Amino acid sequence: MKADIAVIGLAVMGQNLILNMNDNGFKVVAFNRTVAKVDEFLEGPAKGTNIVGATSLEDMVSKLETPRKVMLMVRAGDVVDQFINALVPLLDEGDIIIDGGNTNYPDTNRRVAELREKGIHFVGTGVSGGEEGARFGPSIMPGGSPEAWPFVKPIFQAIAAKTDDGEACCDWVGREGAGHFVKMVHNGIEYGDMQLISEAYHFMKEGLGMSHDEMQATFAEWNNTELNSYLIEISADILGYRDEDGEPLVEKIMDAAGQKGTGKWTGINALDLGIPLTLITESVFARVLSSMKDQRVEAAQLFDNPIQPVEGDKSEWLEALRQALLASKIISYAQGFMLIREASEANNWELNYGNVALMWRGGCIIRSAFLGNIRDAFEANPELPFLGTDAYFKDILQGSLPAWRKVVAKSFESGLPMPCMSSALTFLNGYTTARLPANMIQAQRDYFGAHTYERTDKARGEFFHTNWTGTGGNISSTTYDV
Ligand code: 6PG
Repeated sequence: MKADIAVIGLAVMGQNLILNMNDNGFKVVAFNRTVAKVDEFLEGPAKGTNIVGATSLEDMVSKLETPRKVMLMVRAGDVVDQFINALVPLLDEGDIIIDGGNTNYPDTNRRVAELREKGIHFVGTGVSGGEEGARFGPSIMPGGSPEAWPFVKPIFQAIAAKTDDGEACCDWVGREGAGHFVKMVHNGIEYGDMQLISEAYHFMKEGLGMSHDEMQATFAEWNNTELNSYLIEISADILGYRDEDGEPLVEKIMDAAGQKGTGKWTGINALDLGIPLTLITESVFARVLSSMKDQRVEAAQLFDNPIQPVEGDKSEWLEALRQALLASKIISYAQGFMLIREASEANNWELNYGNVALMWRGGCIIRSAFLGNIRDAFEANPELPFLGTDAYFKDILQGSLPAWRKVVAKSFESGLPMPCMSSALTFLNGYTTARLPANMIQAQRDYFGAHTYERTDKARGEFFHTNWTGTGGNISSTTYDV
């Protein structure tokens, strides 16, 4: 019997996906550039399964059912192109190559187009959920050549995580690099959620002076509220984890955050597409600032800027903090969906935003209960421009405003850095302000550069220039928008 699919790349994600496919009744051929790894895998975790190995790409291809499906689980970048180039001469028209890495979506756009010329279908798919997700049910976000979907669908939907209603956290995202774009935004939201949780932990530890047991218990309680999510759950576990000497391990970890680039790409795309993705972008900058450890240590000695304790009823503060965290998280997801929507329109991807929320409902790192509410919001209104105006989310945002303001104001008073909760609040303040001070910016632009402005007492689209100094003349510069 020939195999259903081949997987190239036997690092932990690749191995676990193969084992997951095998559990679901698919026959898989495993291949790795260092072929010794194939034998290790077959003798180790794959022993006693239906998984077969291959000694070369030719051998691998000969063992596949047509149309052949070859999935790359290798490092994003040149390695993907190298494998594609080696595979193409061995494949036939209609065969399918899948890239399951964290690829930057323009690379996927290019590969879909290049391979289409050769009659090969290409799928770029986000796979989220870490090692455990890959093994027992990841969230899978495939996009690329639509012709490939009917062949890939049975495998992907079988191995994907399922919601409580039994729906697979995997559906077709859209053409070109749409799947990788959605995975990129997933990771950006992941950055934002992680920073928000870190800000809450900082407020608890340095502001309220809470012990690790108290903080662990608080996050565990929060996990029984609308905040219910994987990242809140693991944060409780992390706070409860003791090192060998009995001290909380988290305090021994260097406060310098790493990153591999997906959050940064999300921010860059937001700037390119003109979307105010303030929270995720702040979370990327917060990681960058944290990594300047030596400079921070020096500056901390130079400035007299210690964190002041937060006085008052602890349980009241904790409830306010919970509401501030929830409201900020809503803003972050709302901004993320604004970006997805803009990209969908700019690229004609015709994305289904409710389906994106469903794919993130289970299996992935940002899985959380409230993604179910996001899905409901987009089902009720597929064209919803800002999630925060959906009735469910609007009520939470409105109801949280007093607590959210109190927490952010207190953080400024106490000297606690709170870039994401404060930027989320600033965003909502801006988004709900009918008249912003941008008239001043327009006046300045016209004053120094004759850039023209629209008037509130005239129709939109009509542009005016004023000779502000009496010496500048009446010539205006060409009007153009970025
Ligand atoms: C996932 C994760 C995964 C990875 C991130 C980490 O969805 O399973 O997002 O893709 O853990 O890339 O990213 P950083 O190293 O940039 O934090």
